[in-house]
Amino acid sequence: MNPFWALRIHDSNGTAFAKLQQMTRNELTIGEVTIEVHYSSVNYKDALAATGRGKILKQFPLNGGIDVAGHVLESTDPRFKPGQKVLANGMGLGENYDGGYSEVLRLHADSVVPLPDGLTLRESMILGTAGFTAALALSRMETNGQAPEMGPILITGASGGVGSFATQLFSQKGYEVIAASGKHEAIKYLKDLGASQVIPPAELAMGPRPLEKARFGGAVDNVGGKLLSQTLAHVNLWGNVACIGMAENANLDTTVMPFILRGVSLLGASSNNTPMKLRHEIWKRLATEWKPKQLERILARTVELKDLMQAFDDLLHRKVHGRILVQIRKD
Ligand SMILES: NC(=O)c1ccc[n+]([C@@H]2O[C@H](COP(=O)([O-])OP(=O)(O)OC[C@H]3O[C@@H](n4cnc5c(N)ncnc54)[C@H](OP(=O)(O)O)[C@@H]3O)[C@@H](O)[C@H]2O)c1
Repeated sequence: MNPFWALRIHDSNGTAFAKLQQMTRNELTIGEVTIEVHYSSVNYKDALAATGRGKILKQFPLNGGIDVAGHVLESTDPRFKPGQKVLANGMGLGENYDGGYSEVLRLHADSVVPLPDGLTLRESMILGTAGFTAALALSRMETNGQAPEMGPILITGASGGVGSFATQLFSQKGYEVIAASGKHEAIKYLKDLGASQVIPPAELAMGPRPLEKARFGGAVDNVGGKLLSQTLAHVNLWGNVACIGMAENANLDTTVMPFILRGVSLLGASSNNTPMKLRHEIWKRLATEWKPKQLERILARTVELKDLMQAFDDLLHRKVHGRILVQIRKD
C-alpha cells in the first residue's frame, strides 16, 4: 500500500504535539468511505488541537483537521461511489477520528455529505466549519424569529473565520451588521463584507447592569466571557444571541433579566454535532441562496500541509483575518 503524508498529533506525557509524517491506509481510523483529500481548512479548534493549547483529541495519535473535501476512492456503503465529490465537517474528525490533514482519509459514511451543486471542493473548504457555523447561527436565529426589522446584529470576533462569514451572511440577508473587532487593520475588510460599523470591543461602551439600553436586534458571539455577558443586556425584545465560541474565555456571567423581561434567547450552536438533516440543508443553502458573494475576499491565504504549524501560530496570535485554506492536492 502506497504511503502518504499527514499531519499527525501525538501525545508526550500529557502534552499534544504535531508532526508531518508518512503513514499507510491501514493505520487510519476505520470508516466505510475512503477518500483522496483535496482540501481542508484551518479553524481555531485545529490550532488548539495541534499546538496542545487545548485538549481536543479524545485519543492519540490522530491526524488533525476538522474539515475535509475530496473524491471518493472506494466505499463499502452504497450511498457513495468512486469519483464522487464529498465533504465532511466536524462529526468527530480530528477529535475522535483521523481528520482532514492527510492525503488519504477513511470516513464513516454517516458523516459524509455529497458536495452540493453550486460549490467546488475548494469553495466548500474556504467555507469549512467557519462558514457552516455562521450559517448554522443564521438558521437557528431565523428559526427562532430573528428578522432585520428587529435591529442590528452584533458580531464579535468579527474578523475571524466564523465572524467574517457571519458578517457577510447577515448583511447579504438584509440585516444591519455591527462588527466588533480588536483588529484595526480589519476595518476596511469588514466594511467590504457588509458591516455598517466596525468597533473595537472596548469601545462598544456596554454597561454592567443586568438590563441596559436595547441596542442590538441580536448577536453572534465568538468570544464568550465578559463581552457575551454584556451583550445579553443590550439585546432588544425577543432578539436571539447565537453562542458560538470562547476565543476570550468560556465564562458566562449573566442574570435572568434579559430572558424574562425581554424574551431574549441564547441559542447554542454545535457544528460538530449538527444532525445530518440540518447539516445537508445548511450545506445546500450555502451552495445556493446563502452562498457568500465575497467568498474569495474572505480567503486570507492557501497553505500546504508543511505550512500548517505556522498557520496555527498566526491564527492563535490573532494575525489572521478571514480563512486559511489547506490545499492537499490539485483538483
Ligand atoms: N460552536 C461551534 O460549533 C463552533 C464552530 C466553529 C468555531 N467555534 C469557536 O468560535 C470561535 C471562533 O472560531 P474561528 O474558527 O472563527 O476562530 P478565528 O478565525 O481564530 O477567530 C476568532 C476571533 O476571535 C477574536 N479573538 C481571538 N482571541 C481573542 C481574545 N483573546 N479575546 C477576544 N477576542 C479574541 C479575534 O477577532 P477580532 O480580532 O476581530 O476581535 C479572532 O479573529 C472559537 O472559539 C472557536 O472554537 C465554535
